[in-house]
Amino acid sequence: MKTIISPSILGGSFSNMEKIIKSLDNSKAEYIHFDVMDGDFVPNLTFGPQFISNLRQQTKKVFDVHLMINRVGKFLDNYIKVGSDILTFHLEVEENLHDLIKEIKNKNIKAGIAIKPNTNWEEIKEYLSVIDQVIVMTVDPGFGGQSFMHDQVEKIKNISNYIEENNLKVDIEIDGGVNYETGRVCLDAGANILVAGSFLFNQENLTEATNELYNFFN
Ligand code: DX5
Ligand code: ZN
Repeated sequence: MKTIISPSILGGSFSNMEKIIKSLDNSKAEYIHFDVMDGDFVPNLTFGPQFISNLRQQTKKVFDVHLMINRVGKFLDNYIKVGSDILTFHLEVEENLHDLIKEIKNKNIKAGIAIKPNTNWEEIKEYLSVIDQVIVMTVDPGFGGQSFMHDQVEKIKNISNYIEENNLKVDIEIDGGVNYETGRVCLDAGANILVAGSFLFNQENLTEATNELYNFFN
């Protein structure tokens, strides 16, 4: 199966975004990953819909928007309007997830659910027949540059097996601490999309680093 790379712009400087988007636009990455944080669901604040909208004109890459926010329902339409291609919210938010999924799918956008490391995988079962992707967090959400949590690999396997056994079509995206080594472990466990932040941005040339990661897995 093909591996999709989704570089997380959280790994770069927000003062340099046009250049970063250009570098990624020139790369083999198919997605660009946007980490939206509200300082409430997670202890960090990043950006909102206007930021995404400003960058939307600059590339046709798939905008893979990861909402680490509470009150998803209140803000969902704003993130739909700015041109997100995939909208993923967290399983742990206290809202009716089926309603949120419906709202996203009604706009012909892909819907995803992310689960934190401490959340049991079985809690996502009932949603797997109606979503397009699941994000398995392999770090505690909030910050880039953390170490990959190896104890999450079992969860990836369990979700992947369940998807296969039930003939479902759901992508498994891995978010947190991805590099050549940990990425391989996740793909072997059944994942097919890798988010990568600090691993790419710590290298000199973002386009080349992204292409090398892509080539390594494809
Ligand atoms: C963490 C974010 C990740 C993060 C990944 O809350 O969801 O997308 O940017 O960054 P690295 O690859 O540095 O772990
Ligand atoms: Zn993310």
